[in-house]
Amino acid sequence: MTARPTLRQQTGAPAARILGFGSHQPDRVVTNDDLSQVMDTNDQWIRDRVGIIERRFGDKDELLVDFAVAAGAAALADAGVEPSEVDTLILPNCTMPTQIPNAAAQVAARIGIPNPGAFDLNAACAGFCYGLGVASDLIRAGSAKKALVIGAEKLTDAVDPTDRANAIIFADGAGAAVVGGSDEPGIGPVVWGSAGELVDLIYMRDGKYIYQEGQSVFRWATTQIAPIALRALEAAGLQPSDVDVLVPHQANLRIVESIAKKLRAKGAREDLVVADDIKYSGNTSSASIPMAIDHMRKAGTAKSGDVVLAVGFGAGLSYAGQAFILP
Ligand SMILES: CC(C)(COP(=O)(O)OP(=O)(O)OC[C@H]1O[C@@H](n2cnc3c(N)ncnc32)[C@H](O)[C@@H]1OP(=O)(O)O)[C@@H](O)C(=O)NCCC(=O)NCCS
Repeated sequence: MTARPTLRQQTGAPAARILGFGSHQPDRVVTNDDLSQVMDTNDQWIRDRVGIIERRFGDKDELLVDFAVAAGAAALADAGVEPSEVDTLILPNCTMPTQIPNAAAQVAARIGIPNPGAFDLNAACAGFCYGLGVASDLIRAGSAKKALVIGAEKLTDAVDPTDRANAIIFADGAGAAVVGGSDEPGIGPVVWGSAGELVDLIYMRDGKYIYQEGQSVFRWATTQIAPIALRALEAAGLQPSDVDVLVPHQANLRIVESIAKKLRAKGAREDLVVADDIKYSGNTSSASIPMAIDHMRKAGTAKSGDVVLAVGFGAGLSYAGQAFILP
């Protein structure tokens, strides 16, 4: 009998870090007053209950993949990484209109990334943190050297434009991060999970438009997500006081503020910078976290070397969080 061959194994970089961010939004700005022309709502209610002042909607001929290409290319430019250096493209999204083909491979081809491993990842609004966790672990395992993670959504395709419960919240856009190997750890372990028994709280009704039980989702997010963020910190060996910038998924400003309050009660600093990108971007699902960070870096409210704590949550129900250092 011949001896069974031993499979060669590989190891990757000692650690992973984020090298750059980019984002893209369509040009069309939609204010609360614009929405009140087509449904029974008003500017004050939306500001008070959700925190959104305006958001961006794509036009009919602007697609999720267009947003992803623009955000991905911007992140590569920010990182100073050539498309030819990227070997893996992960595209978290939950609004790609086709299952076949996926978005990732065509986005890679349009950016000029030659033949990468390319796949979509659906964990709804937790998608970016899932994708970042996968990218970091692929790099440490030696399966990837440089990964591009692009959260991209065209939620206006998935929302009944006259449904005031959802049309005021969701919006379009993309955010991206480039991840590479490093000697020093730049991305903490991902803490992720799901609560599939609550699947009926957010789903596509008749496979067409998003339906959600807003109050139940609100209660879940304001009670269950801060503990996940704290677990992500603990996994990275950090204290709440180490965090410079908190970036929860931009679902509702009151949810964001509730998570920040709970972290401060556990020792996060009063000068903790808390992302409030929802005010001008709306809820862009898997795009919201990298887009918020890109906007904050450009505005100077988040800077190189800052410790970020990100936590995503949404349909599934799914959640994920991790700490990382800003490039
Ligand atoms: C959806 C959400 C904004 C609704 O806010 P809410 O405070 O729960 O609102 P309710 O549905 O209880 O309605 C409260 C009142 O406002 C009214 N209302 C609801 N939507 C409205 C709108 N768009 N404009 C004006 N009034 C509205 C309701 O009719 C109700 O009126 P009433 O008190 O006279 O009956 C809120 O529940 C939410 O943000 N939930 C979390 C959703 C989320 O983040 N999902 C994504 C997760 S990724």
